[in-house]
Amino acid sequence: MKEYNIGIIPGDGTGPEVVAEAVKAMKAISDIGGPRFNLTYYDIGGERYLKKGELLPESVAKELSEMDSSLLGAIGHPDVKPGILEKNILLKLRFDLDLYINLRPVVLLPGVYTPIKDKGPEDIDFVIVRENTEGLYAGAGGTLKKGTADEVAVQESINTRKGVERCIRYAFEYCKKRNKGRKLTLCGKTNVLTYAFDLWERAFNEVGTEYSDIEKDYSHVDAICMWMVKNPEFFDVIVTDNLFGDIITDLGAMIQGGMGIAAGGNIKPEGTGVFEPIGGSAPKYTGLNKINPMAAIYAVQMMLDHLDEGDAAEKLQTAIKKVAKNDLKSMGAGRMGYGTKEVGDLVVNYIVKG
Ligand code: IPM
Ligand code: MN
Repeated sequence: MKEYNIGIIPGDGTGPEVVAEAVKAMKAISDIGGPRFNLTYYDIGGERYLKKGELLPESVAKELSEMDSSLLGAIGHPDVKPGILEKNILLKLRFDLDLYINLRPVVLLPGVYTPIKDKGPEDIDFVIVRENTEGLYAGAGGTLKKGTADEVAVQESINTRKGVERCIRYAFEYCKKRNKGRKLTLCGKTNVLTYAFDLWERAFNEVGTEYSDIEKDYSHVDAICMWMVKNPEFFDVIVTDNLFGDIITDLGAMIQGGMGIAAGGNIKPEGTGVFEPIGGSAPKYTGLNKINPMAAIYAVQMMLDHLDEGDAAEKLQTAIKKVAKNDLKSMGAGRMGYGTKEVGDLVVNYIVKG
């Protein structure tokens, strides 16, 4: 059996609790004859920053870049000013490791509650491909005369042909491999952001000529927000820039049942990936055995998929589906009908029993 080197970053708040359950699921996958995982733990996060003043040491970034994949719980601490950990750990990881794809499935599993009336699992089943290293997240811009009445703040969106094209190409390939609706929707704002999305649109059309059997579609970001709620069945794969992707994936997380189940991957397609539940550190639930570990477990499923361990990914997916359908009362923290650890046990049980 194959063995993978996996970095584990439990992080802050409820991160360690959900990661513990995800690791349990990984061990169960190994136990039934699946791949083996050689885990290395890293204590980066708000706690380490407060204790040692360290954010993402070069040596850690380098080691993570050499892992087959990593799993991240959550980074965020109530005693650290907003922006520091985000910029110097989360975004730095994405930039330094060149994890240029942020992949976020929006899949409503049977038995999971969606706030959208009259829509079910057959309607909510699409994937958002978010560019993860450029756009407004690149940090270009600056301020002048800060704190005065004449203050100026400029924040620029960086879009490189290379960066946009590789993201679009990945989205077409993903759409082809997924082989469901065979439709790729570009989400932009060509009517207002006439420089940035002109580049996106041209790259989309040009790369699209290589994918004659995939339907090409375009929607403005504001309209996408409308359609995701009104007709989510329109979508198969959506590709978009960094900020729009950030926004529409939170909307996506809500229609698929909330942060308890929503996972994502920060991926370098030809290299490593950092997989995570997207819900954050949830300080108010920390240490209470109340947080839902399903999203972290789902992140492991995405990791297995990225490692090309199709069989193992499928087995885990089946277990996740069974727990969602048969056991959990809700995906919400404290409302699952089980504690965090018990939900992990349920998943393990289905993995072992099949
Ligand atoms: C996400 C998060 C991050 C982002 C923050 C925490 C920097 O919201 O992964 O979606 O904006 O990308
Ligand atoms: Mn976000």
